[in-house]
Formats: sequence, C-alpha cells, structure tokens
Amino acid sequence: MRHLIDITDLSVQEVDELIATAEDIIQDPAKYAEVCRHKKLATLFFEPSTRTRLSFEAAMLDLGGSTLGFSEAQSSSAAKGETVGDTVRVVGGYADIIAMRHPKEGAPLAATQVSTVPVINAGDGGHNHPTQTLTDLLTIHKERGSLSGFTIGCCGDLKFGRTVHSLVNALSRYSGIRFVFISPPELKIPLYLKENTIEPNGLPYAETESLEDAMPDLDILYMTRVQRERFFNEADYLRLRDTYILDPAKLAAAKLDMRILHPLPRVNEITVDVDKDPRAAYFRQAVYGKFIRMALIMKLLEVQP
Ligand code: CP
Repeated sequence: MRHLIDITDLSVQEVDELIATAEDIIQDPAKYAEVCRHKKLATLFFEPSTRTRLSFEAAMLDLGGSTLGFSEAQSSSAAKGETVGDTVRVVGGYADIIAMRHPKEGAPLAATQVSTVPVINAGDGGHNHPTQTLTDLLTIHKERGSLSGFTIGCCGDLKFGRTVHSLVNALSRYSGIRFVFISPPELKIPLYLKENTIEPNGLPYAETESLEDAMPDLDILYMTRVQRERFFNEADYLRLRDTYILDPAKLAAAKLDMRILHPLPRVNEITVDVDKDPRAAYFRQAVYGKFIRMALIMKLLEVQP
C-alpha cells in the first residue's frame, strides 16, 4: 500500500508518469469515466479548502467513484477530542482512500501509521502540499512543454507557504532549474530547505527582496499569499501582507512567454487586471489540479482504464 505524504515519496519517473496520465485524461476523459466504479474517497479536512477538497471530490466523481467526508474539524468528532489516528482508523472502514488536510505538520504522516487505506497529504500546516506540487508541475509542463531548463521566481511568504516547500523539493530533481526567492527578510525560504535540498543538489539560487529586480530573468513567477493563519501576531501579518502586489505595470518588465502561477486563494497579491494577461496561468492551474488528482487516485488504488 502506497501513501503520498511528501512529493519525494514519488520517484521522478512516477511523477512524469502521473503527468502523462493526467494529459491523457484531459485528451480522452471518457476512457477513465468508470475506472473507480464502487470505490470511495474520504476527504478529511480539518482546515478550510476550496480547490484541494473539491478537485479531489470532482476527480473521484469523474473516475466513476463516490465521495464522503467533512470540511471542518468542528463537524467531526475531532471537536469531541477524537485523535487523528482513531478518525483515520475508523474512516478506513468506510472508504478506499483518504485525502487529509490538517493544520498540524506531520498529522497525515501520523495517520499512515494506523491507516488500512492509502492516505494523501492534502496540506499539513506550513510544511508540505504534495498534490498542489503535482498540479504545479502539470501546469508548467502544459504551459512550457518541459520541466527542465528554466528560472523560477517564488515570491511572497516563503516561510509558511507549504506549496513552495514541496515545489522546491520536486523541481530540485530536474535539470537546469534556477530559483530566485523573493521575500521580505521575515518570510524567507526555510534554512532546512537550503541545507537539505538546494545546496546538496548544487542548485543555483538567489534571494532578493525586490520583485522588480527579479522580473526580467524569470520564466515562471510563482506568487503566493501571505499565510495569515500561520502568524503568531496580527500586527506582523498586517505589516507584511501587501509587500508584493503584482500588477500590469510590474509585468511590463517580464518576458513575453513568462507564466504566472499561484496556488490560490489570492488575497491582494495579484490585481484582477492581470487575469486577462495570457501569461496568467493560475486559473488554468486550478483546473489542472483535478486531472492530476485523478491520475494520483488511480495510481494509489492501482486501477487502470
Ligand atoms: N491551493 C490550495 O490548496 O487551495 P485551497 O486551500 O482552496 O484548497
């Protein structure tokens, strides 16, 4: 039985195969419409979500399966003090696969110790978000045709933004990737990622506070929201939340074929008049999320068309 807790639980070959499967689903969805018939996905979301939960549910429905679950801890017996382990042990009797989001780092990993069905980490605190990374990789592959040989700028809350952490771990395994980390000093990329991933792999990277300075070099700009829910005090959040606001004036310095990604939700960091720019890929990215999750569910359930 396989789980997906960290993006590196999948080999590069497996990630590439998932992307190929997702692209085939996009081409021929009817081929996959019944492959999960009589299978059930449980979505255990102890933290809010729109895209991840609903795209998981849409993915299972489009594979012919069905879904059950909860969307907030307060509507589950966690509110009465039940542990994650007991919840997962019980839900494994009702469903064939579990997607779990939890505010505590490591909760989905702990769930794997007792689960009788595959567990997918749908975001754990400020730690990891591997299915967002699969979404990001599919988006880059669809938009650029390759996962190698580009400069990616990660901008915003690089400290608490779990999607960036998983993306760095994933892209570090491809060739010719250069990172530019754009953040205020308080929200820099964690040291552990530099020491454990970036530096041992000899990946070229730069750190800057200036989005304007970085812009002309970028092939991909990965914008992120400042993660209010992870801050210890509101004053720091209010001071930092609008550090970066991407607008058409700033985009004037960007390459014509640059792509703008954002895991969403956005708050204020991309103005709505950027949405009509063909370089804005973030709403297409949200759609790709359903297809890569279809591919992942099939892989973990070991079903084929
Ligand atoms: N990208 C993402 O995780 O969005 P949600 O919080 O809406 O699931």
